[in-house]
Amino acid sequence: MRRDPHSFADDAQPTVTRLEWLADVDFASRTLGCVAVLHLGAPGHGPLDLDTRDLDIARVDDGAVDDPAGGGTALAWELAASTPILGARLRVQLPDGAVRVRIHYRTSPTASALQWLTPAQTAGGVHPFLFSQCQAIHARSLVPLQDTPRVRITFDARLRVPPPLRALMAAADAGDGRWHMPQPIPPYLLAFAVGELASRDVGPRSRVWAEPSVVDAAAWEFGEVDAMLTTAERLFGPYDWERFDILTMPPSFPYGGMENPRLTFLTPALLAGDRSLVSVVAHELAHSWTGNLVSNSSAEHFWLNEGFTVFAERRIVEALWGGETSALQAAVGWRSLEQAMARFKDRPELTRLRTQLEGIDPDEVFSEIPYEKGYLFLRALEDATGRESFDRFLRAYVRDFRFGAIDSDDFTRLCERELPGALARVDGAAWLDGPGLPPSAPRPRARKLDAVAAVGASVPTLEQAAEWGSTEWELYLESLPRPFGKCAELDARFDLTARGNYDVLVAWLGLALDSSYDPVVPRVEEILGKLGRMKYLRPLYAALARRPGTRPVAERLFARHRDGYHPIAVQVVEGLLAAR
Ligand code: BES
Ligand code: ZN
Repeated sequence: MRRDPHSFADDAQPTVTRLEWLADVDFASRTLGCVAVLHLGAPGHGPLDLDTRDLDIARVDDGAVDDPAGGGTALAWELAASTPILGARLRVQLPDGAVRVRIHYRTSPTASALQWLTPAQTAGGVHPFLFSQCQAIHARSLVPLQDTPRVRITFDARLRVPPPLRALMAAADAGDGRWHMPQPIPPYLLAFAVGELASRDVGPRSRVWAEPSVVDAAAWEFGEVDAMLTTAERLFGPYDWERFDILTMPPSFPYGGMENPRLTFLTPALLAGDRSLVSVVAHELAHSWTGNLVSNSSAEHFWLNEGFTVFAERRIVEALWGGETSALQAAVGWRSLEQAMARFKDRPELTRLRTQLEGIDPDEVFSEIPYEKGYLFLRALEDATGRESFDRFLRAYVRDFRFGAIDSDDFTRLCERELPGALARVDGAAWLDGPGLPPSAPRPRARKLDAVAAVGASVPTLEQAAEWGSTEWELYLESLPRPFGKCAELDARFDLTARGNYDVLVAWLGLALDSSYDPVVPRVEEILGKLGRMKYLRPLYAALARRPGTRPVAERLFARHRDGYHPIAVQVVEGLLAAR
């Protein structure tokens, strides 16, 4: 196995297999005061290299005395100079036979894994809020560890927060602010949140958390989660994580969802009021198998996490709502893949499934490519071998690699064993190592797709659109030529600017901006001031910045709202505004 280009961890050194973590959350200084005890898988000696970012290290000792305030024998350590993408290597010298290391430290107010929200940035407006987002390589700004999915850890944690705030962790609640994670996880799945939080039970294994004023809407929107869970188990085998709870995040959460084990984080932008965006829940749930059980061994093989998960997500959607629905969603995915391919046309090497990311920040090159090209690759294999064989392959994949970390070669080897000859038939090499999309890529097909295509670039009649759900609308809007001359007519007939489903709304607003239909600008401003989901920020800022007339609007809005955006979102929007 090649090393992970995003970690200082060294294969030849001992591995950390268990973490004991104590964190005191201090909203005033926006820091966590921490003690981390790293337990080694086997007694070691010599250097132990850990990943860190912006940590203020006070003391490293052998943890021999249980009093977390001190004791133990001090160990020699050295923090290397910080590098922009990876952070700083912490080298601890292990004495002979060392079984653990204890580190006393404080996180930085600008820790890249954390967003500290003021009361005004929450729904309740009274209490502050704090949350973590560790994927891809931000766990190191919270805990000094081997921040690579190739090393799994179990953990015990204690989070001390000021009352009446409540801490939640993606782990089993052990009471009294303590948390336990018995299943070994890659560090990027370490996650917690602190705020004023309430919950509703929505199934025997599921509870929905949110700020009190949001919790009822969230419990209704995500109320189908138990059906998803049962369906997923039927498809992929038993659920290994006991509970699947959901935390509805504050609006600045930069992703649609994050598959933190036992506690998926979801953007409140999914609360459309009609359950039309819950395939994101199916997606995060599917990660319980593909990603959390079977993990990519580095960001270079991210497609193994996301391509498999999109495939699994669409199988859940198909089982629950039928093949027309999953095909429509795949068609939207196809469009977004085309757009991503266009965005990376000058960096074709980043359109491969297997990537080389030495010296490249994974956040910066994040795109739909590993998701949708990965999905299509698996569809091509399924089409070539038949559903029954491919399902057998999927079950072997989960069984053989569970609680492991794999790369694309592990995948192809299993493929050759379970589906001999199939890779050659679909030209697996072109999928994995070739740029762009192989011409043989399987196109989504459905009657409902033909109905949308039939409207073409005209404005649909009320009758034509009567049966359209949000996915048809999204697809129609994404397919229209730009500039589109009939935006006013479209808006007058269907009141698109007032839509509550953000996927549809943002597709519409992007089209309108590209078509200089500027009555939508106030609505764009409203969204950019309210939501931090990058899937929406990116196209709206890009559309504003593309036109000289609206570019100043983009700059003004970004200046006004950047402090409210998540650090990762700030980086992305900054890059986008600098690009042209
Ligand atoms: N794991 C990802 C989110 C992520 C990826 C965070 C890379 C940080 C680095 C999550 O499962 C995801 O894919 N979210 C999507 C959901 C969609 C594909 C249904 C999102 O946020 O839009
Ligand atoms: Zn995902």
